[in-house]
Amino acid sequence: MPPQGSPERRRSKAPPPAAPLDFGPAPKQVSHQTHKTEPSMKHLFQTPLYQTRLSDTLNTDELAATCLSIAEDDEAGQQWCDENDFPGYTSYASLDDLAWRMPIFKDVARALDQHVASFADTLHFDLGDRPLKLDSLWINILPEGGIHTAHIHPHSVISGTTYVAMPEGTSAIKFEDPRLAMMMASPPRKANAPEAFQPFVYVKPSVGDVLLWESWLRHEVPMNMAEEDRISVSFNYGWAAA
Ligand SMILES: [Fe+2]
Repeated sequence: MPPQGSPERRRSKAPPPAAPLDFGPAPKQVSHQTHKTEPSMKHLFQTPLYQTRLSDTLNTDELAATCLSIAEDDEAGQQWCDENDFPGYTSYASLDDLAWRMPIFKDVARALDQHVASFADTLHFDLGDRPLKLDSLWINILPEGGIHTAHIHPHSVISGTTYVAMPEGTSAIKFEDPRLAMMMASPPRKANAPEAFQPFVYVKPSVGDVLLWESWLRHEVPMNMAEEDRISVSFNYGWAAA
């Protein structure tokens, strides 16, 4: 007799193979395919950019000629541009009454009022009894090689530009994702990602177009590579005084 604990004894005491457990009928396979639904997706914190024709009746050639004529006569503006190394010309620091001086700027301002009111509706602004009001309007003449570095428009609500001369090869305007400073480890976006997911968006408007955006949105005009001047008229709207 083999001693207890020998392999033979352990083999002889081994339990018989267990019969398969009976769990009843197999549960019906749940198909995830058949219950699949698309996840809902919200797009929060939108940054709308408004683009349209400024006016059906405005003569952009006349507006361009008026801008050039003002630039030629505005010695205070020319001096300011020289002293501040501003490329080309701007009336921003010298003339605050273009809409009063020149009837065509009055037409521009009237058209802008309508577009800004429409954009404010799109933005769901609750303005109470203080509508938005044009508080500055100025000419920009950007020569070949000139740039407008990235900036915002402080103390304003809505800003924008209408385009007066956009020669072949001139620069688009570049907008920057306002959350960029917070994107510490955010991966770059694929080159073919939709525009709404891109960190920078370039927009090249046509002559006669107007663009509107909220004044906190940073933007810049990269170098004008065209030989001819790029001419635009920019503006700010703020809350009317209470
Ligand atoms: Fe600007």
